[in-house]
Amino acid sequence: MDNFVIQGGGKLAGEIRVSGSKNSALPILAATMLTGEKSEISNVPDLMDIRSTLSLLNYMGKTCSFGSNNFTVRETSVLKHHAPYELVRKMRASMLVAGPLLARFKKVRFSLPGGCSIGVRPIDIHLEAFKKLGAEVFYEKGDVILTAAKLRPARLRFRFPSVGATENLMMCASLVKGSTVLENCAREPEIADLARALRKMGAFVEGEGTSIIKISGAEELKGLKYEVMPDRIETGTFMLVAAAAGGTLKLSDTDIALVEPLARALKKAGVEIVSGKNTILVNSSGGRPRPVNVATKPHPGFPTDLQAPWMAFMARVDGKCEVHEAIFENRFMHAAELMRMGAEIMVTDRKAVIKGVERLLGAPVMASDIRAGAALIVAAAAAKGETVIRRVYHIDRGYEKIEAKLRRAGLRIERVKA
Ligand code: UD1
Repeated sequence: MDNFVIQGGGKLAGEIRVSGSKNSALPILAATMLTGEKSEISNVPDLMDIRSTLSLLNYMGKTCSFGSNNFTVRETSVLKHHAPYELVRKMRASMLVAGPLLARFKKVRFSLPGGCSIGVRPIDIHLEAFKKLGAEVFYEKGDVILTAAKLRPARLRFRFPSVGATENLMMCASLVKGSTVLENCAREPEIADLARALRKMGAFVEGEGTSIIKISGAEELKGLKYEVMPDRIETGTFMLVAAAAGGTLKLSDTDIALVEPLARALKKAGVEIVSGKNTILVNSSGGRPRPVNVATKPHPGFPTDLQAPWMAFMARVDGKCEVHEAIFENRFMHAAELMRMGAEIMVTDRKAVIKGVERLLGAPVMASDIRAGAALIVAAAAAKGETVIRRVYHIDRGYEKIEAKLRRAGLRIERVKA
C-alpha cells in the first residue's frame, strides 16, 4: 500500500491540466452497453474506478481497450447480464449497467451494492423507477434481479434527485419506445454530459440541467464517439489546495461554470479567482480565510464531494464557521483526521462547527474515502511540517496522477511504499 508524504507550508506556483470527469465517464461507459456497435470515448481519466469499469465491461462480454485516456468498447460476443459482487463491491457505480442491460435484454442481475463509509446508500429510487417502466424486482443470494416482458414509457417522479438513479433511468428509457418523462431529476453537469452522449447514440433527450427530463427512446442505438467533460470535483480540489497553501495556480482545460458554488464561497473567504476561456486562476495569500458557512445541496448547490476539502481549507478560518452535510448521513470522517493535525471541529449529526486555528501541524493521518483523502492533501499543503497520508488507494480511485500534478505546481509531495 502507498502513502503520500507531504511537506507543508510552501506556496504553489504553476499550471495543472484538469482531467476528464470520473463521474461523467462512468455512466457514459455504462451507456456503451446500450448498443452492439463500437464506441470510442476520449478524455477518460486513468484511475482505479475506470479500471474497475474496464474489468466489469470485459467480464460482461465487451472487448475494451484503454490507454492514453482513450477508451474503446467493442462487442464481439454474447453479453452476460450479471454484475457480480466482486466488481460491484469495489465500485457502487457498477450498478449503472442495470439501466442499459435491462433496456437491451429485459433482464439484469447485479449484486446489491451495500453501504460505504459515507452512508447506507440504498438503491430504492432506482428500483421504484424501473418498476414504473414495467420491470419486476426479485432478490436472490444478495443479488437484485430485474426482468420485464416488455418495458413501457412512463411519467415518474424521483422522491429525491439522485444522480445515479437519474442516469440509470435516462439510459434505460433511451431504448424504450415512446415518451418517458422523469421529474425531480438531478441537475448535475454530469447528467447533461450523459444526455449529450445519449443524443449522439440516437436517443431523443431534452431538459437535462432542469428537473424534468424527457426521453423518446429509439428501437436501436448507435455506437458513439464522445469526449468526456472536465472533472469539476478535481478542479475544485485543486482550487482548495491552492487557496489553503497560498500562491498562484492556473487550472486549464476546465470551466468556471462547473464550480460556481465553490468559486463564490472562495471569493467570500478572501481568495481571488479569475476565470478565462477554459482556465481558472486561483490567487491566495495563504493567510487565514474569512468565515464562510456552507451547506451541501444537490446541484446547483455546494457539492457534497467538495465538503471535506472545503472543511480542510476552513480549519484555519479567522473565527468560527459551520458546514452542513445534507446529502450523506455519515460524511464527516475526515473531521477526526483534521483534528489530529490540530483543527478544532465539533461534529453533531449533520453539522460541523469549526473554530479556526492559526496553524495546522503535520501528522500521520488516514484517508477514509476519496474526498476525505483529498481533504487531507488540502490540510497537509497548508500545515507546518510533514504529513503522512495512509490508505492512498482511496484517493487513487478518483484522482488521476494527483501527486505528479501537484508536484509540478510546487507542492512537496511524494508517493512512498508503506
Ligand atoms: C453520485 C456521485 C457521488 C456524489 C453523489 C451526490 C457518481 C459516480 N457518484 O453518487 O460522487 O457524492 O452523486 O452528488 O456520480 N439515495 C437513496 N436511494 C437511492 C439513491 C440514492 O436514498 O436509490 C440517497 C443516497 O443514499 C444519498 C443521496 O440519495 O444520501 C444522494 O445519492 P445519489 O445522488 O444517488 O448519489 P450517487 O449517484 O450514488
